[in-house]
Amino acid sequence: MDSAALSFNPEVELSLWRIYRDFFDIAERKRRWRVRDDIPWDECNPNLDPAIADVVETFCCVELYLPDYVGKVLPLVRRSKGRTWFYANWGYEESKHSLALSDWLLRSGHRTEEYMFDLEKKVFEREWNLPEGDHLGMLAYAMVQEHATFLNYRNLRQRAQALGGDPALDRVLAFVSVDEAAHFGLFKSFFELYLQVDRDRAIAALRPVLNQFQMPAIHDLLDESKSRIARIRELELFNEEIFIRDVYTHLLNTLNVTKAELRGPRVKKSVLV
Ligand SMILES: [Fe+2]
Ligand SMILES: [Fe+2]
Repeated sequence: MDSAALSFNPEVELSLWRIYRDFFDIAERKRRWRVRDDIPWDECNPNLDPAIADVVETFCCVELYLPDYVGKVLPLVRRSKGRTWFYANWGYEESKHSLALSDWLLRSGHRTEEYMFDLEKKVFEREWNLPEGDHLGMLAYAMVQEHATFLNYRNLRQRAQALGGDPALDRVLAFVSVDEAAHFGLFKSFFELYLQVDRDRAIAALRPVLNQFQMPAIHDLLDESKSRIARIRELELFNEEIFIRDVYTHLLNTLNVTKAELRGPRVKKSVLV
C-alpha cells in the first residue's frame, strides 16, 4: 500500500475521525482558556531574570511561523477529514500561544511595542518549509516536535519559578504546556494507528525524524540563532541529553518501538568486494 493510499483507507479514516472527535470534545469541555481573561496580567514581574524574557521571545517567534505550519501541511492531508479538522483546531490553539507570550513580553515591560513590531516583521520575511515531504513523515515530525515543545515550556516554567517568579507568565506557560501535551497525545494516537496498519512504513517515517531532530525555526530562520540556542542550553531547557532521555528514549518506550527497529534492516556487505 503506498503512502497516499494508506492515508485514504476508509477504516483508517474512520478511526482518525473518532480519535479527533474525542480529542475535540475533551478540549471544548476541559481545556479552553482565554488570553484576556484567564491570566493574572496585573501580576507580571518586571524584575524577573531577563534571560527568561529572552527565551519567551524566542519561543514566541517559533509560534509566529503559524501561517507556514498550517498552510503548508494542509495540502498534504486535505483528503483526510480527521487530520484536516485537527489542524484547523490546532491552528486556533497555536495562535493563542504567540498571542499570550507576546502580551506577557509587553505587559511585563520586558519588550516595547516597537521592538515586537520589528520582531514580527523579521519573522514574516522568512518562510518555514516542511521538514518531511509526505503526510506520514509530517505526522512523525509533528508528534516528536510537540513533545519536545511541551518539554521546553514545562522546563521554562520551572526555571521562571526559580529565577524570580511571575504569576502571569506562570499561568501562560501552564496553559501552553497543557495544550502542547494534548497535541502530542493526539499526534501519538494518530501515529499509533499507522503503526498498527503498516508498521514498517510508519517506522521508516519516524527514523529520519528521530535521527535528525531540530526544533523548528530556531536554528535556521531566527536572527541571533546562536545566542538564542545558547540561552536555551544555559537554562537547561533543552539539550542533547534531554533529547535522548526525554524525547528519543521516551518515545521508543511509549510507542513500543525498539532501537533495532529504528536502526532499520542492516545492509549486508558483500564478501566478494
Ligand atoms: Fe504552541
Ligand atoms: Fe502544539
